[in-house]
Amino acid sequence: MEANLPKRKETRKSLRIKVISMGNAEVGKSCIIKRYCEKRFVPKYLATIGIDYGVTKVQIREREIKVNIFDMAGHPFFYEVRNEFYKDTQGVVLVYDVGQKESFDALDAWLTEMKQELGPHGNMENIVFVVCANKIDCTKHRCVDESEGRLWAESRGFLYFETSAQTGEGINEMFQTFYSAVVDLCDNGGKRPTSSMSVSFTKEQVDTIRRIRNSKDSWDMLGVKPGATRDEVNKAYRKLAVLLHPDKCVAPGSEDAFKAVVNARTALLKNIK
Ligand code: GTP
Ligand code: MG
Repeated sequence: MEANLPKRKETRKSLRIKVISMGNAEVGKSCIIKRYCEKRFVPKYLATIGIDYGVTKVQIREREIKVNIFDMAGHPFFYEVRNEFYKDTQGVVLVYDVGQKESFDALDAWLTEMKQELGPHGNMENIVFVVCANKIDCTKHRCVDESEGRLWAESRGFLYFETSAQTGEGINEMFQTFYSAVVDLCDNGGKRPTSSMSVSFTKEQVDTIRRIRNSKDSWDMLGVKPGATRDEVNKAYRKLAVLLHPDKCVAPGSEDAFKAVVNARTALLKNIK
């Protein structure tokens, strides 16, 4: 009878995973790892030379996970050292500095470098990426806002966290969610579960929000030629309003883009007879 059977102990094997850090030099990759593993912050910049390697144990959903962390140097000089470490990675911590636009713009180049090193048979789809918008404590210098970073990350199916290695803000939540997603990936036979890949907004919405952010004036924002008629302005406005209305669009930054479009239309109509 079932009641008399000795209780079988859960014997799930402990899991071993490999994660790497990626991003420009000086964005705070090593400090983020140090803050999580050693609970401390080093204000002095000590550039990583090539690669730093460490092993740590973490507890995810009552399961012990052994994590091999390869902390990469961001400086281009170390490309030859880095390129050997991309393969067999289950998770990537991709970091930029919110006060340094170049480090945000460089994220695509980091993905390209990794893809290139993995070669034609490497599959980036089955790797968990978490984007860290780091140094959020430096509010005065911030030049990449949350919605811009979130949009970049979430439109690719990546996780996104705002972090500060200095204050510790966001670091634990980021690593817990990240490791949890890597465990899900391993439990799913090394494939990213489809639920974590689903993006709830369209490429057209993402591209439009970006275009609106970068537009030079109200005509440009609505996508009409200077001197366009009221009808043309209204038509363009209606199209954008349908695409970006906050009730319909959940893409990061859509609310601001929608407001900007409303203001642009009002400003243009004031001056058109
Ligand atoms: P490389 O190893 O050269 O690729 O750089 P890295 O990305 O590992 O940068 P590192 O962690 O060494 O940090 C670079 C500098 O930024 C150091 O002076 C850190 O003290 C500082 N730093 C890192 N994270 C933060 C942060 O969240 N806030 C602030 N204010 N400074 C930070
Ligand atoms: Mg480093």
